[in-house]
Amino acid sequence: MKPSLFRPFVIAATLGVFLTGCAKSSPDAAAPAAAAASGTKIKLGFIVKQPEEPWFQLEWKFADQAAADLGFDLVKIGATDGEKTLSAINNLAAGGAQGFVICTPDVKLGPAIAKSAAEHNLKLIAVDDRFVGSDGQPMANVHYLGLSARKVGANVGNALNAEMKARNWPVAETGVCAVTFEELDTAKERTEGAIEALTTAGFPADKIFKAPQKTSDIPGARDAVNILLVQHPEVKHWLICGMNDSAVLGAVRSTEGRGFAATDVIGVGINGTDCIDELSKSSPTGFFASNLNSAKDHGYNTAKMLFEWVKDNKEPPLDTRTTGMIINRSNFMQVLKDQGIR
Ligand code: GLA
Repeated sequence: MKPSLFRPFVIAATLGVFLTGCAKSSPDAAAPAAAAASGTKIKLGFIVKQPEEPWFQLEWKFADQAAADLGFDLVKIGATDGEKTLSAINNLAAGGAQGFVICTPDVKLGPAIAKSAAEHNLKLIAVDDRFVGSDGQPMANVHYLGLSARKVGANVGNALNAEMKARNWPVAETGVCAVTFEELDTAKERTEGAIEALTTAGFPADKIFKAPQKTSDIPGARDAVNILLVQHPEVKHWLICGMNDSAVLGAVRSTEGRGFAATDVIGVGINGTDCIDELSKSSPTGFFASNLNSAKDHGYNTAKMLFEWVKDNKEPPLDTRTTGMIINRSNFMQVLKDQGIR
């Protein structure tokens, strides 16, 4: 097998990588400057922690668009743990990449990822989940683009409050189920933002219950909420928030399992990309709405920022935040169309 074919095959086979532009990749261009000087196309990586989640697939789709518009090669890698992440970085470097965007599977890998990127002379942008240093603080020296998480959480809390009022639910019979994942700072800020907005609107703090998820996916949320529902049989109507759509979807599935009707549940997610099938169902479920984040900013813009940094040495801002808007069954089709998602 020729080396130029062999390397992409090895990466794909060992890491479950989806490669674009394999035929054009230069297998031995380990020195980025040399590659650039020789006119070889710039190659960039985009590593995500949960490649099965529609949010990350959409980030990739927009990053692919940036690659097509600006003329660089993009290597997309799903890395679900630390070992896969570090070997993905090694493989990117060996394959001649000059930088990568990453949503790390564990924010505590931040120092190791930054060290490996520096050793390989790869430019680095963290997206979605901000690196945490060995001192437990966010790594402010690593370029980052993520949600303005507290503000997005407040959008969710306000949407929950407005719909509770529209349904005339007595507060005495209502509870808040906050599906939490507090080990991840952006997740903690989102649920805290939602809780803050609800208490500011007058919702009693002692009727807000946390359901900590062990894994940040639908089963993790469902399991956590199953426990909470058993503990609170007195609650007749549930308001649900969480770090993302998957958290709220899991919680809604749990309420269905316990016999709650859709009319007694208001779930508001975050992402707006992982709930399209849910909002498209012929009858409404307890999943009422979501904060649609800008996958285009997170996918297209991070890739573009990285490309311009590599190509023109134009350093991106250290910290960029995005917000988004609430979508529900009545407007989601139009909004997704306007944003180029559907
Ligand atoms: C985290 C979550 C994703 C998505 C992004 C948005 O990574 O796990 O589902 O919400 O943040 O930045």
